[in-house]
Amino acid sequence: MARVAVIPGDGVGLEVMREALRVLEPLNAASGLGLTFEHFDFGAERYLRTGVGLPPGQIDTFRRDHAAILFGAVGDPRVKDGAHAREILLGLRFGLDLYINLRPCRLYADRLSPLRGERAIDFVVFRENTEGQYNGIGGFLKAGTGDEVAIATEVNTRKGVERIIRAAFAWARCKGRKRVTLGDKSNAIPAHQLWLRTFREVAAEYPELEARHLYVDNLALQLVQRPESFEVIVTTNLFGDILTDLGAALVGGLGISASANLNPDSTPLFEPVHGSAPDIAGQGLVNPMAMLLTAALMLEELGHGGEAVRLERAVQQAILQGQVTRDLGGSLSTSEVTDAVLGYLGLRAG
Ligand code: IPM
Ligand code: MG
Repeated sequence: MARVAVIPGDGVGLEVMREALRVLEPLNAASGLGLTFEHFDFGAERYLRTGVGLPPGQIDTFRRDHAAILFGAVGDPRVKDGAHAREILLGLRFGLDLYINLRPCRLYADRLSPLRGERAIDFVVFRENTEGQYNGIGGFLKAGTGDEVAIATEVNTRKGVERIIRAAFAWARCKGRKRVTLGDKSNAIPAHQLWLRTFREVAAEYPELEARHLYVDNLALQLVQRPESFEVIVTTNLFGDILTDLGAALVGGLGISASANLNPDSTPLFEPVHGSAPDIAGQGLVNPMAMLLTAALMLEELGHGGEAVRLERAVQQAILQGQVTRDLGGSLSTSEVTDAVLGYLGLRAG
């Protein structure tokens, strides 16, 4: 039995999680995957009621008792500055030391890309997930005055940089990919030379892989001009945040962008890249595909590669048949898209 912690969160997170479970539960039963789902109500409601985003000890519980965490989205206009979202999402990423944020960008149908012509876009971003500018080190001086100073310190440790670079190369080797590209800004930020040096050292252990280095601004340009030339990208936390939204835009948007937060020694967390989208929440408009593809990433990580591939193919099938929500140019509702995916999986819509 593998226990999966389910955290729907806020906004559309509640809807897409419902859809994910409409697929995962019958798949679990039909294929005998042995998953059990345990629900947690972390999110804005609970935060507003109790002032607590993530209860003390929760990280340890997840680490000890759960094989995976399936996460919807957090964010609510009633909570100022996204405080609870940071506490919950970044709390889990950091608390569980999930240093790999793996985000695939795969084009399932040419019409989904804003780029012209036939495209074979299929790259994966390895975003560092525990350091960079996301550590909270810094603060304000003379806040609210004309002399205000705001400081955020970027952290790059040898250990942190090396482990994400190693993860990218190891994954490329394992998946038969040929090229790994590092994106940094070592021409302007000397600290990033640590990335470049480490990248070259690790690359030497993978002679069969091409190791390419690009400054991140140029990488962004090439990602739009020649997205097919990328297979695996490894980069810092903040650059990865930005590049993965760009990558999502190239293949159809946040409605189909999935992610996995991983550390082989911890409990992984799986989340769609989109947020809680309060403007469309509760209306049956949200695209469930990002969450379904995220569920596929989870299945793969839990050792159910066959089901993961089937689920991804079923989503692709629905895309190819135009059974999609508004964001992808269709007219189906959230649950109708899931019904279509269930159909391609040969499972009955519940
Ligand atoms: C993401 C999001 C988060 C991030 C926010 C919500 C803190 O943009 O997962 O890409 O910056 O990591
Ligand atoms: Mg982001």
